[in-house]
Amino acid sequence: MSAVILDGRAIASELLSSLKADVQKLNPKLVIVQVGEDPASASYIKQKIKACAEVGMRNEHIHLPTKCAREDLMRTVTALNQNPDVTGFIVQLPLPPHLTAFVPELIDAIDPKKDIDGFGAINIGHTFLGSEQLPPATPAGVIHILESSGIAIEGKRAVVVGRSNIVGKPLAIMLLNRHATVTICHTRTEELGRRTKEADILIAAVGKPKMITADMVKKGAVVIDVGMNRTEEGLIGDVDFKAVKEIASAITPVPGGVGPMTVASLIKNCVTAKKLQAGRSDV
Ligand code: GUN
Repeated sequence: MSAVILDGRAIASELLSSLKADVQKLNPKLVIVQVGEDPASASYIKQKIKACAEVGMRNEHIHLPTKCAREDLMRTVTALNQNPDVTGFIVQLPLPPHLTAFVPELIDAIDPKKDIDGFGAINIGHTFLGSEQLPPATPAGVIHILESSGIAIEGKRAVVVGRSNIVGKPLAIMLLNRHATVTICHTRTEELGRRTKEADILIAAVGKPKMITADMVKKGAVVIDVGMNRTEEGLIGDVDFKAVKEIASAITPVPGGVGPMTVASLIKNCVTAKKLQAGRSDV
């Protein structure tokens, strides 16, 4: 039997609707900083601005040139940190090659209260310790898909393939926070297929088109595909969707799975940031 398709667009739309009242009441403002012309980034930013419009959130798009100096980018971050009208902001990654080595310093410079990407050490620390005040948006989106679809996490064996700082590592921690038994696999994992086949919940976040094949998946597993690979065939995930959907019990498509959830989770974080800045702890 074919798997249930987990409709990220529908779940994201519900999440956005649930945020509208708070957005109206609290009037937060989200700012997106883009450096250069990376086409994937341009497309993600368009989706983020569209989601802001959908919930009525004030937003601003700051677009800096590809050859922007690190001092200019740092000046922009400092100004956003200091501007009381700005609730939260992100610097869309990746940065142009000459700025790549500067990313850790840049993330470190963002005021943790405005770090709605949840990438900085303070927010990663909160996530690690279980309070998940401003969790990274993609892992938060994955968790929301699982929880809103009634998929049990507690006690289950979750295997995360990928160990990036923005997806794999924090997602593993967030699954652990919900009492899953978690394995993290990566490029140097031996017998990868044997590990993935143990998963009740299998998450692919590697950036390699169709690398999770049907023989790597246990019958009845829930499969979440975080991959967004732009290929000649179009946008495809890390999972061989057509074959794996015949084995899994539930699966996210690409596009229309995790992508829209990342966007909705970012908007949610901006609302949460506004509440935290007002001293509220009930977020
Ligand atoms: N590039 C890919 N995903 C993300 C994200 O969630 N936030 C930022 N800032 N850049 C990204």
